[in-house]
Amino acid sequence: MDLGELENKLQNCTSCGLCRTRTNMVFGKGSRNAQVMFVGEGPGEQEDLQGKPFVGKAGQLLDRIIAASELPPEHIYICNVMKCRPPGNRFPNEEEVDACKPFLREQIRIIRPKIIVCLGALATKTIVRPDARITRDRGRWVQKGSFQIMPTFHPAALLRDPDKKRPVWEDMKQVRERYKSF
Ligand code: URA
Repeated sequence: MDLGELENKLQNCTSCGLCRTRTNMVFGKGSRNAQVMFVGEGPGEQEDLQGKPFVGKAGQLLDRIIAASELPPEHIYICNVMKCRPPGNRFPNEEEVDACKPFLREQIRIIRPKIIVCLGALATKTIVRPDARITRDRGRWVQKGSFQIMPTFHPAALLRDPDKKRPVWEDMKQVRERYKSF
């Protein structure tokens, strides 16, 4: 299955109850040939309305972080663990996460990024390991198969707590250096 086919299939997804409350399924954006994939948590209000990931305030900050990191847009792909918005932005439950995980796995398999940046706790727990802790594990590379994974704070966390900007910048410098080394 290619990326377009997977996206089309998910437009009608009913794998969990979030299909009843979503406006749009939010698949991903960016390059099919991305070397760096950013994975967030799930769509918020704006993302649900527009059908695109990271278009709200946290998304604008993510765009600035990526621009400052000098990673070329043609090598970036952005998506989420959850493809549908939990009502009122509540945290997705385990059943919902489990239902959605195979689609992220498939996206990763198709795109084959060299680097995966996990934005926040849910992406880190889903991609790295279930008992990962973002405050403890951020900033440290994890190798899984052919993927180099960097957990860092979610941009929404930076909006709440500006003290997290410095560590994210340190993490992104590592991402840039690793990207340049390929
Ligand atoms: N937060 C996320 O984790 N993902 C989005 O797409 C938007 C906000």
